[in-house]
Amino acid sequence: MRGGLRLRFCALLLTTTTVQAGNLYLERMEAVTSFPEGEEMHELIRRIDAHGQQAPRRLETPPFHHRTSREDRAVTLCRRCHGALPHRRSPARRAFLNQHAGRIDCLVCHLRPEGVPLTYLRPVADGPIEASHAGEAVAVPADAPAADRILERWEGAALSKEAKARLHHRLHEPLDREGTPCGECHGEPSLLDLQALGFTEEERWRIRENRIARFIDRVEEEAPPLQLRELLR
Ligand code: HEC
Ligand code: HEC
Ligand code: HEC
Repeated sequence: MRGGLRLRFCALLLTTTTVQAGNLYLERMEAVTSFPEGEEMHELIRRIDAHGQQAPRRLETPPFHHRTSREDRAVTLCRRCHGALPHRRSPARRAFLNQHAGRIDCLVCHLRPEGVPLTYLRPVADGPIEASHAGEAVAVPADAPAADRILERWEGAALSKEAKARLHHRLHEPLDREGTPCGECHGEPSLLDLQALGFTEEERWRIRENRIARFIDRVEEEAPPLQLRELLR
């Protein structure tokens, strides 16, 4: 009895000392336990099929092992499926969002779990801004073993449509699908500590007071596109 207890205690010590703080996104992904069923499942399968037909994308950069340059760092698990121009839904926002996606990691805008403190930094000078949690990067590098395992499953012929849809659900359930609105960074207060990120006073002013960013949050998607002649009237 006492021996058993001691053994369990040792096992606990072992796991707590060898397992470091994990990657927040991968942890959240692993923790997903409920999956769509019935009609919802069919709808998801339909969306995944349609997506594949619209935009078959391949990893545009071969795997790499020394992420030092700005471009390399921007290549993450997300981009292995979404490519470098992931936004297309909103005609008013997509060009801006795609431009940001090269300078700001996806998860800065798409992973904002409530009550979880995140820090935003730029690990490589002039590289993308990334989120970090408890000292660990949140972005999953494109060549991380976990990314390879996910992509192998996703692309493997053996995966049924249902299993693929469940994997898709697991990948996206932890995310904030609507993304971060422009004004949360362009304005006061800002999600980002622009000074700590190395922006000069003038740049900070330009980002804070950005008229486009402040205007776009108010644009109604349903409104007809603005015509040049309306501006000239
Ligand atoms: C294995 C491939 C794959 C990976 C990895 C992946 N996605 Fe996706 N994602 C997809 C597909 C396919 C869709 C399209 C489904 C559709 O058209 O609604 C999608 C849809 C989305 C959407 C729209 C979600 C919705 O349900 O409306 C967002 C946002 C998104 N992905 C963000 C991300 C981010 C951020 C990452 C990285 C953490 C990521 N994705 C990783 C394949 C992937
Ligand atoms: C600056 C913040 C920001 C960054 C960085 C960002 N997104 Fe988004 N994303 C958004 C917002 C906001 C939306 C909602 C857009 C809308 O209004 O339709 C969105 C929507 C999406 C959608 C679904 C709608 C669409 O436009 O097709 C996908 C897929 C997506 N993001 C993937 C990504 C991926 C992958 C990355 C990284 C390569 C990324 N995003 C980086 C803010 C961001
Ligand atoms: C997560 C924070 C964040 C969000 C959300 C965000 N931005 Fe930005 N934006 C930035 C940062 C940081 C820069 C400066 C990028 C750089 O120079 O590296 C920037 C730069 C810009 C610039 C160029 C400014 C200049 O003068 O150089 C424009 C325009 C802009 N954003 C518009 C938008 C719009 C429109 C949206 C919403 C669709 C948006 N931003 C959402 C953080 C954000």
